[in-house]
Amino acid sequence: MFRVFSGMRPTGRLHLGHMAGALTNWVALQEENECYYSIVDWHALMSDYADPSRLRANSIEVLLDWLAVGLDPEKSAIFIQSHVKEHIELHLALSMIAPLGWLERNPTYKEQILNLQNKDLSTYGFLGYPVLMASDILVYKSHKVPVGEDQTAHLELSRELARRFNNFYGGGGEIFPEPEIMLTPTPKIPGTDGRKMSKSYGNSIEIADDIPALDKKIRTMKTDPARERRTDKGEPNKCPVWDLQKFFNPGKTKLDELALGCRTAGIGCIDCKKVLIACVTEHMTPIHERRKAFESRRDDLADILREGAKKARACASRTMSDVYDALGMLKQNE
Ligand code: TRP
Repeated sequence: MFRVFSGMRPTGRLHLGHMAGALTNWVALQEENECYYSIVDWHALMSDYADPSRLRANSIEVLLDWLAVGLDPEKSAIFIQSHVKEHIELHLALSMIAPLGWLERNPTYKEQILNLQNKDLSTYGFLGYPVLMASDILVYKSHKVPVGEDQTAHLELSRELARRFNNFYGGGGEIFPEPEIMLTPTPKIPGTDGRKMSKSYGNSIEIADDIPALDKKIRTMKTDPARERRTDKGEPNKCPVWDLQKFFNPGKTKLDELALGCRTAGIGCIDCKKVLIACVTEHMTPIHERRKAFESRRDDLADILREGAKKARACASRTMSDVYDALGMLKQNE
């Protein structure tokens, strides 16, 4: 049994890429581990500080998507980062020992500054993005962090900060275990245009998309460009619909049949897509039902977040007590 932490920024509704890449794994982990899953609103503010108008609504959207796919508040602590103040306390403590060079050299930082030209990210807060992320993880003394490959550099920084803190203040022992990244084999989920599914490309299929919307997106989705006409032969491995087909898996026999039909032009892309639409409908319908049920129970959502924050705080406050001790700070009743 491990302590597991992961988080997502509340930037809006989640899509099938999030579901296949992260959430399915998070749901599985909660069976055997002590899991903390946080909607990291402070992190969202680090890049979207100029316009927080959607922050509150987006946090709810993420929560609904999480609950819809099966994150279970009885098993995991599901909470909003800003509700557990210990995250920001540890962030300040770690910022004392975070060398500027480490932060400035962080490849993700450089990349984001280049990619998000429309936002001014040359702020003090944004430079410290990985310090807050390290705090999220270390405040629970987490062992495992299930994230995508794009977070590798951040995770490495968390490990280095843990080590540095232990070296300074651990007295030869260890205050923070070094958290390990947990990369899970993530199925490739392309968007409707064949590129990686991403909100910013406008090619995503959202978890909350209803069946008619899904149907329309899949029907107009790009396929193997070699199949311009119905009579052209295709290659499934060059087709983005095929990646989804494998994920939603209509069964091996059906997959073989579709592959053969594609390669021989025995079937058209629409025939193949109809099979996919049926599978997606079957897979997503219970998820949509769960989402709908939670949408109409706003009071319960508040309860879930309150309980989640309470569970999280119980663990985080113990860590902070160790941290204040280690830092040699005088306690209130000392
Ligand atoms: N940086 C992560 C992302 O963009 C979000 C995140 C913040 C996170 N704090 C975290 C992920 C702690 C894992 C652990 O996806």
